[in-house]
Amino acid sequence: MHITIIAGTRPNFIKVGPIIHAINRAKQDNNISYRLVHTGQHYDKKMSDSFFIDLKIPHPDVNLSCGGGTQAEQTAAIMIAFEKELTENPCDFVLVVGDVTSTMACTIVAKKMNTKVIHVESGIRSFDMSMPEEINRLVTDSLTDVFFTTSEFANTNLRNEGVPDHKVHFVGNVMIDSLMDNIDNFTKPLLVTENNLLEKAYFVLTLHRPSNVDNPENLRNLLTTILQNVGNNKVLFPIHPRTLKVFNTLNLHFDNLIIVEPLGYLEFNWLVKNAKGVITDSGGITEETTVLGVPCMTLRENTERPETCSVGTNELVGLNTTDIINALDKIVSGNWKKGAIPEKWDGKTSDRIVKILLENY
Ligand code: UD1
Ligand code: UDP
Repeated sequence: MHITIIAGTRPNFIKVGPIIHAINRAKQDNNISYRLVHTGQHYDKKMSDSFFIDLKIPHPDVNLSCGGGTQAEQTAAIMIAFEKELTENPCDFVLVVGDVTSTMACTIVAKKMNTKVIHVESGIRSFDMSMPEEINRLVTDSLTDVFFTTSEFANTNLRNEGVPDHKVHFVGNVMIDSLMDNIDNFTKPLLVTENNLLEKAYFVLTLHRPSNVDNPENLRNLLTTILQNVGNNKVLFPIHPRTLKVFNTLNLHFDNLIIVEPLGYLEFNWLVKNAKGVITDSGGITEETTVLGVPCMTLRENTERPETCSVGTNELVGLNTTDIINALDKIVSGNWKKGAIPEKWDGKTSDRIVKILLENY
């Protein structure tokens, strides 16, 4: 079984890493191999290379260099480049993860070339069609042949969309495989001492959703609300390149705000583990805070990962100023809920995936 694995963005690298390690473990005794295709959607060192180093992911076999552009430009560029790549290097399956443009674009190409598609993290839905990711999820899952899921919620969504049960495998969360594989190697960054950050006396903030960051006034309002309501805690903001472009136009200065470039995985998760709380619009980070037991408030109106709220430490706070202030108060005063870990988020998901592929496909 020869699998072409697609990765294009920061969260993709964190998801494909453990799958590649699991294939490498299995390949001594089984007929399984892979080729890693990097679409180039994310390309800065701090958004791409650093994850290959931190998570010991082998160098991609090819980089399609399709970063930047509008949604259509990026989708088209990836499709054109990946069609050529797959023609030159055919495989039995194309494996995609998550819900980014690379996921959807490569799925369409694979299906049109009669190559079966495996989708890891299939079935999650925000039911919000204004998010590019929701469109990517729906298109990808309408073409997928083998569905690996993280939750019962995802299983139900796929069932409701008519996917037969025998194609759906509830295996858990590969992002948590990366977390558990690396938790003993989390690294205290220099910036902790440089900025006099004390454990459990700072927030980690990440924002990159177009709806939160593309409009300068929205971003200004969100940041001002947060920075004025965190008590004596500092706010560490590793800033996504999309967000930086807008932030630079704001001329915003707060003494308790520490802006840094995107951080490597081991340093970022050291900071999350030791934070008082996390404020984010990320999907993956809400899963990691759930497993690390760190209070997390999500600045979105919906989530495709409801188990991080119903089971974990995440709360869907939304964008209303009063709601944000109340949630910050709860974290600052130590009154946040305690969470538990969702079923099968145990660090063994990638081995389950490889076992199922070898036994069933
Ligand atoms: C993408 C995903 C989003 C995911 C996020 C993870 C889509 C539609 N969106 O959003 O689901 O949560 O990645 O971080 O696929 N840029 C750089 N350097 C980089 C990468 C991006 O400068 O290394 C800039 C470019 O100007 C680019 C913009 O950021 O045009 C947006 O990048 P893009 O990959 O299109 O979307 P993200 O906002 O990163
Ligand atoms: N992450 C990181 N450094 C950062 C910010 C995030 O290593 O500065 C990691 C984080 O631990 C998680 C992933 O990136 O594993 C989440 O990616 P992102 O928030 O960009 O995407 P999403 O999960 O929202 O699609």
